[in-house]
Amino acid sequence: METLQKLLGIDLPLIQAPMAGVQGHALATAVSNAGGLGSLPCATLSLDLLRKEIEQIRAGTDKPYNINFFAHVPPVPDALRDASWHAALAPYYREFGINADEIPAGPGRAPFSAEVAELLSEFRPPVVSFHFGLPDKALLARVRSWGSRILSSATTVAEARWLEEQGVDAIIAQGLEAGGHRGFFLSHDLTTQLGTFALLPQIVRAVKVPVIAAGGIADATGVAAAKLLGAAGVQIGTAYLLTPEATTSAPHRAALKSDAIEHTALTNLFTGGPARGIVNRVMRELGPLSNVAPAFPLATAAIAPLRSKAEAQGSGDFSPLWSGQNARGCKEIPAADLTQELAAGW
Ligand SMILES: Cc1cc2nc3c(=O)[nH]c(=O)nc-3n(C[C@H](O)[C@H](O)[C@H](O)COP(=O)(O)O)c2cc1C
Repeated sequence: METLQKLLGIDLPLIQAPMAGVQGHALATAVSNAGGLGSLPCATLSLDLLRKEIEQIRAGTDKPYNINFFAHVPPVPDALRDASWHAALAPYYREFGINADEIPAGPGRAPFSAEVAELLSEFRPPVVSFHFGLPDKALLARVRSWGSRILSSATTVAEARWLEEQGVDAIIAQGLEAGGHRGFFLSHDLTTQLGTFALLPQIVRAVKVPVIAAGGIADATGVAAAKLLGAAGVQIGTAYLLTPEATTSAPHRAALKSDAIEHTALTNLFTGGPARGIVNRVMRELGPLSNVAPAFPLATAAIAPLRSKAEAQGSGDFSPLWSGQNARGCKEIPAADLTQELAAGW
């Protein structure tokens, strides 16, 4: 089997996980220049911003980089559930003096689309990765047509097999320890979700394409363990959150440096989709998993003003403090140095 390094044109088999909301071109460029694969998360970017970010990456590195999108199927809005969600948040709106009638509605995160593909065709990015499955066949064929390598996350053996059938170049095995959103897409039953040590070797056995381990890998020994379990490389997110190149907010950085990291949970309060973050006030009081939160990504708009108000006061009580279960590897050192430290375990 071709090595991941050869497949992606990189020196180190290490992908910096795309992390929407906490990083842009600076982190991606630093990791690519260090020999890993830097990633740009695009789920929350407008077309204008997407163009600017890619231009910045291309100005900052001549090494391969990864452009990451969500590929979810947008849900049908449900007025009743939306009303229940607003009712659950009403006491907090009162506490912060927010007028609920003035909150703009919005999807929060848009899936990969024909407009995005049009823009990307100008850049022909070396690698494109997806979370929540893949876009439809025609769109995927378009991405493939300009030579981009295609990656996507699998959280079960069945998802890995499905992705291989669709012709992805490599599969990211996302264990339950991982920070951020569960990339699951064939089943939304959380009981199907496995930890990295259980998931990785089973996916390695089930598919022929290279498998990249993700979730809870935070230091060189974790990288070595993933290799022993058959991974072709690793994708690491949480460990990069305190690097100077990340745009992680002050309350998020403070939480990551505190003992709060010992308690993370899956929560659907911030977007509607289950994602792992450090337990904070709103997760304790309403969840962490609530059946009144609308489907992904429709929960985002209603909680956003609470997040802004709280963050303006220096509080992360209403912020998604995304983190994996192993945040002990977070270091306040340049991303290039962290990349070298981690990759030394390979
Ligand atoms: C803050 C944060 C944001 C994330 N955002 C994304 C994203 O936009 N796209 C994506 O494919 N994965 C995202 N993830 C998940 C990562 O791809 C990866 O599965 C995870 O970081 C691996 O586990 P670790 O955090 O324990 O290293 C995010 C993870 C974190 C911690």
